[in-house]
Order: sequence, then C-alpha cells, then structure tokens
Amino acid sequence: MERVTESGAAPPALGIGMVGYAFMGAAHSQGWRTAGRVFDLPLRPVLAAVAGRDADAVRAAARRHGWAAAETDWRALIARDDVQLVDICTPGDSHAEIAIAALEAGKHVLCEKPLANSVAEAEAMTAAAEAAAARGRIAMVGFNYRRVPALAYARGLVAEGRLGALRHVRVTYLQDWLVDPDFPLTWRLEREHAGSGALGDLGAHAVDLAQYLAGEPLVGVSALTETFVRERPLLAGAAAGLSAGPAGGTRGRVTVDDAALFTGRLASGALASFEATRMAAGRKNALRLEVNGERGSLAFDLERLNELSFHDHTEPAVTAGFRRVLVTEPGHPYLEGWWPPGHALGYEHTFAHQARDLVHAVATGTAPAPSFADGLQVQRVLAAVEESARNAAVYTPVLPSLPVSPVSR
Ligand SMILES: NC(=O)c1ccc[n+]([C@@H]2O[C@H](COP(=O)([O-])OP(=O)(O)OC[C@H]3O[C@@H](n4cnc5c(N)ncnc54)[C@H](O)[C@@H]3O)[C@@H](O)[C@H]2O)c1
Repeated sequence: MERVTESGAAPPALGIGMVGYAFMGAAHSQGWRTAGRVFDLPLRPVLAAVAGRDADAVRAAARRHGWAAAETDWRALIARDDVQLVDICTPGDSHAEIAIAALEAGKHVLCEKPLANSVAEAEAMTAAAEAAAARGRIAMVGFNYRRVPALAYARGLVAEGRLGALRHVRVTYLQDWLVDPDFPLTWRLEREHAGSGALGDLGAHAVDLAQYLAGEPLVGVSALTETFVRERPLLAGAAAGLSAGPAGGTRGRVTVDDAALFTGRLASGALASFEATRMAAGRKNALRLEVNGERGSLAFDLERLNELSFHDHTEPAVTAGFRRVLVTEPGHPYLEGWWPPGHALGYEHTFAHQARDLVHAVATGTAPAPSFADGLQVQRVLAAVEESARNAAVYTPVLPSLPVSPVSR
C-alpha cells in the first residue's frame, strides 16, 4: 500500500534506477521500498530498473529486491525514460563515470561513499553536479550514518550551542574481517578499484561524521597508515566485497591500507582524532565517537544506535553526568514515521531516511546534504591523510578546505 495525498491520489512517481545489487544494492533497495510507506513524501519512489553485468544474476536481484526491470549495462539504465534518479551502488572505480553520465543525461544522482577514488575524479563529479544543479538536478553522496536519528539529533545539539565551543572530536571505526591472512584479495583490497583501504571504506565515514557534527571542515591532518598482510589469496571467481569467495592457490599483492590512524585540526581550532581499521579482532562494525565542548559532551556507539550519551557541563557538578537519551521520541529526527517510543530502529533504517531526504530535495529543488561538494571535501581529507602517511606523519594541510553543508531538512 502506498501513501496517498490528502486528495486521495498517490503522489507523482520518481523512477529510480540502481547500478550494483550486492551489499549496498540490497540496503538501498530496502530504503527505496520503505521510505514512501513510512514517510509522507511529495514523490513516490518507484523501483524502475536495476543494472548489473551478469544477466542471470541481475534478473535474480531484480526479483529479490523488487525492481521492475533489469539491465546489463548501466548506460542503458541511464537512457531509460522511466528512470529519473540513478543510484550508484558499485565500487569507487565506476562512480565518476556513471555519475557524470547520469547528470549529463538529466538524471538526479545518489552515489555511494567515498564519492570517488581520487580528488581529481571527485572534482569532476562536483563540477558535473554544479552544472546539473543549474538545470534543477540533485546530486547527493551516501554518507548514511548522518541519518542515524541519534547522530542527526547530536548535530542539532552542537548547532544549538549546547556543547559550546568544541575542543575535541574523536571517532573510531573498527572492523575485523581482514584479521584472517587468508581472506581473499577482493576489490576492497585493490587500489585500482577501491582507491584506498580502511581509510576510504571506514575513515571516509569517520571524517564525514566529524565534519558534519562539528559543522566545520578539517584543515590539516597528521597520519600513519599500515598494510599488515601484504599478500592475499587471489579470488578464483567474482565475490562480493565483504564475503570471502573461493580462493585459488596463488597470492596477489594488497595495494591499500589495512589501517589508518590520524589526528586533525578543525577550522575552529578544535582537535580531532581518527582510527579506521579492518584488523581489530572482535570488532564487527564498531563506529564510536565522542565530542567535547566547553559546555558539554556527547558520545555515540553504533552498537547502541538508538542511544545518545549527553553530558551538560553547565549543571551542578554534584548531579551532572552523562545521561542516556533514548532517541526514539516522535520529536527526534526521522522518528515521526516510525514506531511508538522505545520500539528501536536499526542500520537499515538509515537508508530509508536517506531516500526520504533525497526525495524531498528532488521535489523542492533544494541542495541536498551531503552534497558532492561535501564528498569532495572528504576526498581531500583522505588525500591529505595518504600524503602525510607517506611523509612520516608530517602535518599536511587539507587544501582547499570547503565549507560543510548542514543537513537538508
Ligand atoms: N554507506 C555505507 O555504509 C556503505 C557500506 C558498504 C559499502 N559502501 C560503498 O558502496 C559501494 C559498493 O559497495 P558494496 O559493499 O555494495 O560492494 P559489493 O561488492 O557488495 O557490490 C558491488 C556491486 O557492484 C557491481 N559492479 C561492480 N562494478 C560494476 C560495473 N562496472 N557495472 C555494474 N555493476 C558493477 C557488482 O557486481 C556488485 O553488484 C562502494 O562505494 C562502497 O564503499 C557504503
């Protein structure tokens, strides 16, 4: 059942065409299927077509995830009249080509993070997005963790001044799927496909969140990166990025980092620290952060994503302390469409929230956040991290650092 307008009619359709149908493809499908049923949207997302390279596999994915049609070439997907928005869920090496072609063809675009594999690609994509914006087309990058209600609420607290001037932002993003030295050489371990390793995969989220929460860019970084396991078994066949596929006998070279550790300075002078690794045994998807300001602090752990810890340092010391805010009230961001208070949300809901915000941006013609310019800013930070790591962790400016756009709601 689709939501209907007050007059009883279904809102006009917004045809979605998605490229790539594995991990993010499944998550985005869930978001597109759900958003219009939970939220009152001005346009109705229609899952028009999905594209992949293998005809049988893409047809099976279309059936499983609810897409009306399947294409074996993303160019054919972009050319379809029933596709108005192209959703890019492929590895980074194809983001620039697909996004620029889609924008030039007059489509709106959602592109998974990191925006690209290099600053040059991200610059070209941002230029294409700016040209398309002049023609009323919207381009957004998929930093979905901004859409965790507790983190959107946290941003509101910082913006209201509840933390005062910021002193520290620290973000760690830890996974452990590379601890096994026999985990095969998937695309995420090859620079030509992924751009970088834990840095672009996890560090990109950490950097975007730090800049989003603080509302200001990083202006310089000092970094260490390491590749602990330098050779891994070659894949015998194609395998999705996070799942180990069949490995042959020979090994190939890992060309990205396994871990990145860096400090940074925000524009206001606040200090930030980051750790991104896929080598933290026992940590599955441990995204944790803390922000300290002169008036208070907040802390978040993705494993308890319905909760935000908040400390108001202006309260009397005898009763002050971190309080656990259960971010499930109707007045909290994104909660208006969901369940009664305390009936918790999860990871998948961030993709419905992302779809909701993007549909509003398309319908109202407003610039979305995070924009391609925000994705470019993150890309410049990642490039500065790699440059610093190559130069014995010397402090390296992020040039030029761009303003960070607030959430578009
Ligand atoms: N937002 C998040 O939390 C999050 C999480 C995981 C991955 N990602 C990002 O999403 C993107 C995809 O990652 P994933 O985990 O879904 O990878 P994946 O390996 O699970 O899926 C990649 C898909 O892209 C397809 N593909 C690859 N090259 C293609 C091409 N040229 N044309 C058409 N299809 C092609 C593959 O067949 C597969 O369907 C990456 O940019 C990644 O960094 C984001």
